[in-house]
Amino acid sequence: AKPSVLVARAIFPEVIAHLEQHFEVTHNQADEAWSREQLIARLQGKQGVFTTGGERIDAELLAACPELRICANMAVGFNNFDLKAMTAAGVLGTNAPDVLTETTADFGFALLMATARRVTESEHFLRAGRWGKWSYDLFAGQDVHGSTLGILGMGRIGQGIARRGAHGFGMKVIYHNRSRLTPELESACKARYVGKEELLREADHLVLVLPYTPQSHHAIGAAEIALMKPTATLVNIARGGIVDDAALAQALRERRIAAAGLDVFEGEPKVHPELLTVPNVVLTPHIASATVPTRRAMAQLAADNLVGFLVNGKPLTPLNPEVLESA
Ligand code: GLV
Ligand code: GLV
Repeated sequence: AKPSVLVARAIFPEVIAHLEQHFEVTHNQADEAWSREQLIARLQGKQGVFTTGGERIDAELLAACPELRICANMAVGFNNFDLKAMTAAGVLGTNAPDVLTETTADFGFALLMATARRVTESEHFLRAGRWGKWSYDLFAGQDVHGSTLGILGMGRIGQGIARRGAHGFGMKVIYHNRSRLTPELESACKARYVGKEELLREADHLVLVLPYTPQSHHAIGAAEIALMKPTATLVNIARGGIVDDAALAQALRERRIAAAGLDVFEGEPKVHPELLTVPNVVLTPHIASATVPTRRAMAQLAADNLVGFLVNGKPLTPLNPEVLESA
């Protein structure tokens, strides 16, 4: 018999069709909101699940789904996985790295530029019919070219942003990361390693691209924002929870930094109500990887991981490969 898999959210119909060549597929193309209980009920008898980043996979769920062998996330981030619990249960996790790197780095730059140059704030002004006359400081923002770009979290996406900044905009790039890049990678993206405090103090534009872990929770809070330049902008395309959104909203209201661009939020899709009322913030609904070809590639990679593992025993991008060795 074919293995059985569950696709937890609506995805590209052709990806469902691809999965149906190999599996008995139960899907959610109506994209109904499933409670955790309903997810667990639908996982009964399934060997694999296609997740999209919002489904929490932890010890309790795994204990309730003893036949489950693989969770394939259609996201590079996998903070919805308790990887330790998955490894203990012998369940493989896979993510969707690489295919979204350049697309996500593009969006980091889009948000940086929109933030520094006050694009959405000025559009709201224009749409509201308030554009009456020229004025010397109308929506005057901060320069991007030639400024100092700070990057917190220097994985593939961070390096993509660094390359854009250094090569395209003549920016001076500084970064902080748990580990330093090799000298080859540092010179490829013309980035200089600095301590976190120096990063906060020196950056004209600070972009967050680090994974969400207990250690990165509120990595940017009131104390960190206080170190930043009053003209600085902050861009978060990483994960909600890395920034203390309440502290950020207050800092924006008091103009302790110039502006912020946020694609991710604590407790999203809810957004801190204060962030919705301050003018100097650009807000987008977690779309950094959202181009048609990239979302397709991410879905295809998640599907290929399910086929690779359940049919051929070879997943493409395993997160806890130790599960394969002990199987
Ligand atoms: C999106 O946030 C992802 O992790 O791919
Ligand atoms: C994500 O994969 C990153 O490396 O930034």
